[in-house]
Amino acid sequence: MFNQDFPIFNASGVWCTTKKDLEELGKSEAEAIVFKTMTLLPRQGNPEPRFFLTDDFSLNSMGLPNLGVDYYCQIVSDLKKYKKPLIASIAGFSEKEFLILFDKVNKASFDAVEINLSCPNLEGKGLFAYDLKTSFSILKKIMKKTKKKVGVKLPPYFERETIKKVVEEFLKLKIDFVTLVNSYPLGCFIDVKKEEMVIKPNLGIGGLGGKILQPVALAQVVLFYQYSKGRLPIVSVGGIENAFDIYRYTLAGASAFAIGTELWRQGPKIFSDLKKDLKNFLKKKKVKSLKEKIGQVKFL
Ligand code: DHB
Repeated sequence: MFNQDFPIFNASGVWCTTKKDLEELGKSEAEAIVFKTMTLLPRQGNPEPRFFLTDDFSLNSMGLPNLGVDYYCQIVSDLKKYKKPLIASIAGFSEKEFLILFDKVNKASFDAVEINLSCPNLEGKGLFAYDLKTSFSILKKIMKKTKKKVGVKLPPYFERETIKKVVEEFLKLKIDFVTLVNSYPLGCFIDVKKEEMVIKPNLGIGGLGGKILQPVALAQVVLFYQYSKGRLPIVSVGGIENAFDIYRYTLAGASAFAIGTELWRQGPKIFSDLKKDLKNFLKKKKVKSLKEKIGQVKFL
């Protein structure tokens, strides 16, 4: 699935909601196009302000604004001309909805589907990924009918034992890849001058991403790689800004790299800059290909 020399692309949610956004990714040097997480019906999302950015982190409570699964299934064939893997991202509000959504994207001309079990911003709804029984049940049914590659986007887990269980089940179900990680679900920030929250929805608390998330995401990548013995391809997400970050995630066990916060900050030109930076970095280090370094971190 991620056999390119520089498998770097957008994280779902960033620069991928409208057809214009998706076309811009097509024209950029991103190696795949990941769509905004789609729901059964179009959604406006949460009230604004719902996104906040600093040098160290991002905070988002978008609330799944998207144009609805039928729209994306209709336009996906127009993006084939960019000759890049087209990856749908789906989120239902129930097991049944996940399966209806999956049937729709399974019939459309996507190359892969990322099952988003980790949207943090839906008031009154927990994260599916923290309910392993329901998550496994959804994925089992999806894997029985899929014609596409299937990935799963997860939030950070808090215990090694949970990760062991997830890895074991995903290997059994033959899940094609995991995306690690979605934003840390409960972040907030307060403007001291105004004495108020920086975002409006859900008591000012939303998903935390960006640089600050990197140590959290790295630990998840290391444990998924080690527990699966490298048999579960990992797309890493969390504060990737330069070649150093990409190399670090590679050593931890990742074989692809998704850019969220930094794409928000810089726009799609980030992909050519990252590729250039990475090529120079590898040349200086005399490393022929990132592939030979996947999971090669030394333990003390
Ligand atoms: C949203 C945020 C996420 O982190 C995610 O995975 C999906 C959706 C959102 O609020 O729109």
